[in-house]
Amino acid sequence: ETPAEKELRSPILCILGHVDTGKTSLLDKIRSTNVQGGEARGITQQIGASFVPVETIKEQTKGINEKLKVNFRLPGLLLIDTPGHESFNNLRSRGSGLCDLAILVIDIVHGIEKQTVESINLLRMRKTPFVVALNKVDRVYEWQKYVNLSMNEELKLQNRHTAQDFESRTNKIIAQLAEHELNAALYWRNSDYKKVVSLVPTSAVTGEGLGDLMLVVVQLMQKIMSEKVTYRNTLECTILEVKAIEGLGTTVDAVLVNGVLNEGDKIVVSGFGGPIVTTIRSLLTPPPLRETRVKTALIPNKSIRASMGVKIVAPGLEKAVAGTSLYVVGEDDDLEELKREAQKDVDSVLATDDTEEIGVTIQASTLGSLEAFSTFLKGEKIPVAFKAIGPVHKKHVMNAAIMANKDPKYAILLAFGVKVEESAMQTANELKITIMSEETIYLFVDRLKTYFGAIKE
Ligand code: GTP
Ligand code: MG
Ligand code: NA
Repeated sequence: ETPAEKELRSPILCILGHVDTGKTSLLDKIRSTNVQGGEARGITQQIGASFVPVETIKEQTKGINEKLKVNFRLPGLLLIDTPGHESFNNLRSRGSGLCDLAILVIDIVHGIEKQTVESINLLRMRKTPFVVALNKVDRVYEWQKYVNLSMNEELKLQNRHTAQDFESRTNKIIAQLAEHELNAALYWRNSDYKKVVSLVPTSAVTGEGLGDLMLVVVQLMQKIMSEKVTYRNTLECTILEVKAIEGLGTTVDAVLVNGVLNEGDKIVVSGFGGPIVTTIRSLLTPPPLRETRVKTALIPNKSIRASMGVKIVAPGLEKAVAGTSLYVVGEDDDLEELKREAQKDVDSVLATDDTEEIGVTIQASTLGSLEAFSTFLKGEKIPVAFKAIGPVHKKHVMNAAIMANKDPKYAILLAFGVKVEESAMQTANELKITIMSEETIYLFVDRLKTYFGAIKE
């Protein structure tokens, strides 16, 4: 069998970078969606996967591929969006740990920023190859938009001052990357894809450079990394997120990297209280070009083949741990052995369960955002006693009420992006428990300052 005949799976690409560099906007432009517009304050606070079929990529690269004539062997790309805000390093880390290749987004006007450096360090630690999208190129001085041209050709048509502004900004970023021991070059000047990071100018507003970006990625995967994305039957599946969904209970969003998952499969996942053995009740996928984190009609599947983002519905997933592997129990498998294997993963993350004897009660919609919220509160020096995912029920208010006798200032419940049930509201009123409810983490800053400030006085 020649390499050309081997079946390739869709590469998993993770989009990383500083806040507001345009990560979600780039994905929106590729998918023709508006996820960014639906986010609270335009801030990404969750991790999401979406599948872009090869047909879409062919369409988007049509203009510039006439000359290049790249043959597409990949079935598509599986894109993972991550938040850029500093509190969410857990999700950046999870995304970068999972992907075959990363797209590091840098704002061409701002250059390298704090989470750009953090992202570079994550990628280096995991030895994950990446390309850089130099985004917001439309903000370069007097930039002119052209369609169906490669960025190299476009630059030749820009006026002299524009070309100069572009070159000086790009050179500055190349110098900044060099300070972090990275060699980088505009992709059409890059003669060594293995050693030099490719820079691709893009605009998520005009769509310029997106074709270039996709072709660079596809060529890298097909020419240099084809071995890594050759389809394998051995199951490889990672839990991206643990989510409570109304009507479905606790579900996990997983990325199936290799192999097949079937409805009815007996699975083992890592749990905070020990390994969880359960049976897949349903396998839900978003339609192509839609994201797992967005509320769209999900499609039920009898079976899923890698690579794909999938929402798994199964009983008993409440204590599942995001970032760990999922195992299918095959006929010849030793269940106890798989449970031990699964538990190894948990032991490495259990250290993150850092609740205190006395502290506030917090709630968020996903495990990932709950972790980020905990990290954020730690930074604010606010101890956490209870945490849970999903809507706020009466029992959660009762947890907060326990603090009334221990240290009344901590008898509060912080609901981050989750619904507060009517009965919970009533109980809170009766017991005089404050519930603070916000859609973005950062809005808690002022409310908590006011709250704890008022108590001191
Ligand atoms: P976080 O996920 O919160 O870290 O942000 P992000 O990196 O996903 O950035 P997002 O897509 O939310 O975009 C941030 C802002 O930049 C929005 O107002 C976008 O409209 C704008 N923006 C994104 N890409 C471009 C671009 O190419 N050009 C210009 N001019 N604006 C852009
Ligand atoms: Mg975003
Ligand atoms: Na944003």
